[in-house]
Amino acid sequence: MSLLSVRGVTKRFGGIIANRGITFNIAAGELVGVIGPNGAGKSTLFECISGFYAPDEGEVELDGARLTRLSPDNVCRRGVARTFQKLRPFQGMTVAENVMVGALTRTHDVRHARDQAHEWLRRVGLLEKANAHARTLSTGQRKRLELARALATQPRVVLLDEVTGGVDQRSIPGLIELVRELHAGGLTLLMIEHNMRVVTAVARRILALHMGELIADGPPDAVARDPKVVEAYLGQAYTA
Ligand SMILES: Nc1ncnc2c1ncn2[C@@H]1O[C@H](COP(=O)(O)OP(=O)(O)O)[C@@H](O)[C@H]1O
Ligand SMILES: [Mg+2]
Repeated sequence: MSLLSVRGVTKRFGGIIANRGITFNIAAGELVGVIGPNGAGKSTLFECISGFYAPDEGEVELDGARLTRLSPDNVCRRGVARTFQKLRPFQGMTVAENVMVGALTRTHDVRHARDQAHEWLRRVGLLEKANAHARTLSTGQRKRLELARALATQPRVVLLDEVTGGVDQRSIPGLIELVRELHAGGLTLLMIEHNMRVVTAVARRILALHMGELIADGPPDAVARDPKVVEAYLGQAYTA
């Protein structure tokens, strides 16, 4: 039984085919990595799943219900949350208020939303920053804030776009541990990850994209050895 189903998703930008007939299913409770060189179409795929882009062709379904062409708000209410590669916290708001934005998609009770925001900040290890302004956070802390905001929407599936990207080396193990914990708690996760070592350490299944196409889907060791994947990464800094 699949929770998230992506079938034949194609997205064009003028002459560029950013996603080309991408098809895969994610079962409830899976943690799946998405890899591929820069420009492979990874972020575009997340935009198509989360409703920020409407694919030109294909369908996305959550638990059998169509998500394609719903607004991002609607997709979020159906249970798909995402973090952004380019971080966009509300700079003028406090950390807790940013997370409340997520919680308020599920409740209109502000006090309840505030309690939930604090609970998620505790879970992601950012509680002591609750009253700080978002603009004062380090990149690693902003990644945790993005996660807390996504989780506060009570998602069934979370899409993580480069959660370790741009983060200092010291903060990476903690972020990976957090992803592991969320997965162990039953959350379904799809994570774009540039760092092959990170993704093979956490995911038991990897999707590899290249030039808009899904070129491999399987266990990390098999995907890393796949000739098409090796070729896609030729000349790039890539270590399995
Ligand atoms: N909004 C956009 N307008 C035009 N081209 C885009 C847009 N978003 C992405 N692209 C192009 O689509 C391709 C895939 O981009 P992207 O999904 O960001 O790749 P990745 O996340 O794998 O690095 C690239 O060629 C990129 O330049
Ligand atoms: Mg990207």
